[in-house]
Amino acid sequence: MSAVPQFANDPERAIREMTTRIEPELIAVRRDLHAHPELAFEEVRTAGVVARELARLGIPHQTGVGRTGVVGLIEGGRPGPVLAIRADLDALPIEERTGLTFASTKPGLMHACGHDIHTTTLLGIGAVLKELAPRLAGSVKLVFQPAEETLGGARAMIADGVLEAPNVDMAIGFHNMPNLPVGRFTYVRGAAMAAADAFDLIIHGKSGHAAYPETTVDPIVAAGAFIGQVQTVVSREVSALHPVVVTIGAIHGGTVRNIIPDEVLLRGSVRTLHASARAAAENGIRRLCVGLEAGMRVRCALDYVHGVPPLTSDPDLLDRTVASVRAQLGDVIAEEAPSMGSEDFALFAERVKSFHVRVGSSQPGREDRLHNSAYQPDEACIAAGVQALARAAVDLLS
Ligand code: NI
Repeated sequence: MSAVPQFANDPERAIREMTTRIEPELIAVRRDLHAHPELAFEEVRTAGVVARELARLGIPHQTGVGRTGVVGLIEGGRPGPVLAIRADLDALPIEERTGLTFASTKPGLMHACGHDIHTTTLLGIGAVLKELAPRLAGSVKLVFQPAEETLGGARAMIADGVLEAPNVDMAIGFHNMPNLPVGRFTYVRGAAMAAADAFDLIIHGKSGHAAYPETTVDPIVAAGAFIGQVQTVVSREVSALHPVVVTIGAIHGGTVRNIIPDEVLLRGSVRTLHASARAAAENGIRRLCVGLEAGMRVRCALDYVHGVPPLTSDPDLLDRTVASVRAQLGDVIAEEAPSMGSEDFALFAERVKSFHVRVGSSQPGREDRLHNSAYQPDEACIAAGVQALARAAVDLLS
């Protein structure tokens, strides 16, 4: 059979037929990965499966990129840009409760975010594009990234040069979505996912007897004032059209009712979709600490940590990829609202033109959620993802 020779006339059919042919093998790989989940930066077996499959396909690859990451390279028949497609490898510390025959064999660990689906989808994309390589003008880097859940893997791979040699010109990321039926896709124009910054604030006062607060500096009262004031960063400092979420998720201070303590610790999370809001929120929180020191005599030790940046799609890459998905699969892709969740693919998007697409994965009749112990994605989403993104790669490198 000659899917490749037919390709020039009918790329839709060629990609569909190749995907249908490899789908059973892909599902077998996915079930094997699902039964053997591994946590962030411990994906040794998973990386071994990826390397074995790439070797079987004749795709040159490098292991140990960003500790446990793997990168495959498919060189096209003609020169052109380099497209990276990224999947993540890691599982979660959750006890699986699906009852599936291929359920996790590791107590307390589960692929509850569907990264086993992502890894398999990218292997399928590699298989299809390897066959079509002579027709590609440019190259495809298959990026199998560790540690997405802990948001450390993209940084580690970038530090190890994943975007260089050859230099990556554009990148596509994807995630399965159980709130979307299998066969459907969504995307977000502009700011798609949030920056996730974090802070620890220690408010230092002066301890003493609860009956004589005038002899102390009370950090608990100051913490109360800060908790109230910090929401004005959201309501008074940033445009209502630029979302900000500030959450104090932990507060620790004091021991008994009749002692004013020396200090209070507050731990917060700051989510923003736009760089301007991100900077304004940090500046506002820093200023409130200065005000607390002047107004309430405490001393504030603020440790403000920048996490992943906002994830923003490149408009041109978005339009071209969406058109490819429609050309391959029909009218199955729609725009949707941004999310205040975060994703470390944003670190790729900060450096090269990028696009992130959501792949519907819900089984009919189920109402699954990510990070849930009973999550059962519909495996048909693997073939759908392979077709959509292989076609996008072919069109982007034509
Ligand atoms: Ni995930």
